[in-house]
Amino acid sequence: MEDRHLIPTKSTRVGPNLHTEVVDPYYRATAQLTSMLAGFELSAAADIGCGYAGITEDIASALPSQATLYAVDADPEVFPTSHGAASCQVIELVQDVYQLELPKQVDVIVCRFLLLDLTNPLAAMRAMRRWIRPGGHLALLEPITSTGRIGTSAIASASDEIVDQDIGLRLYDLLTAIDADEITIDAFTPVGLGASLAGRYLAAMTGVDPGSNTFIALPTLVLACGHIQ
Ligand SMILES: C[S@@+](CC[C@H](N)C(=O)[O-])C[C@H]1O[C@@H](n2cnc3c(N)ncnc32)[C@H](O)[C@@H]1O
Repeated sequence: MEDRHLIPTKSTRVGPNLHTEVVDPYYRATAQLTSMLAGFELSAAADIGCGYAGITEDIASALPSQATLYAVDADPEVFPTSHGAASCQVIELVQDVYQLELPKQVDVIVCRFLLLDLTNPLAAMRAMRRWIRPGGHLALLEPITSTGRIGTSAIASASDEIVDQDIGLRLYDLLTAIDADEITIDAFTPVGLGASLAGRYLAAMTGVDPGSNTFIALPTLVLACGHIQ
């Protein structure tokens, strides 16, 4: 019997509906990110690989109203995204992270679920680092997919586009490789039984009903943040 369940962890495929139909079970990670951002001095930020809805508006909500947020994605089809609720100016840019050219340096760059798709995440980190002012920060949210469980079976990604489904394990090394310091790391693993938030999210992502009493652990999401000298 197949002992791994396949989960497409591409929110681009699911699109905005996932966010309207199912509350994001990773909300604690988002809350930790936004409270971290609230502690920084911010006038400009960027969300790289922002996708459809992603967390762009959560990031915008942590910025002062006069700040600018660059929402960047290589795929023009993710735009226009409604940023009507954003409390600050959001500027959408169609760009590849490897050739990132922001209008100016920013105080913080955030990316979620981007590095797992990249063949050269270190090159992407270097490209992003160039656009962070000295004293700014780079915050990464990436999964360790193989920690996920449906019952006792491990979750694995079904997407061909995912290069490293466990990239979350490498975030510390990647931040160190670009000479970031004061690195902080947290990890979040939403769990629950079948009809829980975790179960509904899994069902929305995969179309698979896990059953009402099945234990579910979603893939661990790692939040790593480094200070750029
Ligand atoms: C899995 S989605 C994540 C979307 C969003 N950050 C979120 O957390 O929901 C990955 C996004 O990265 C974008 N992407 C992939 N490769 C990229 C690249 N080389 N440069 C910029 N964006 C890229 C994709 O188009 C997609 O929108």
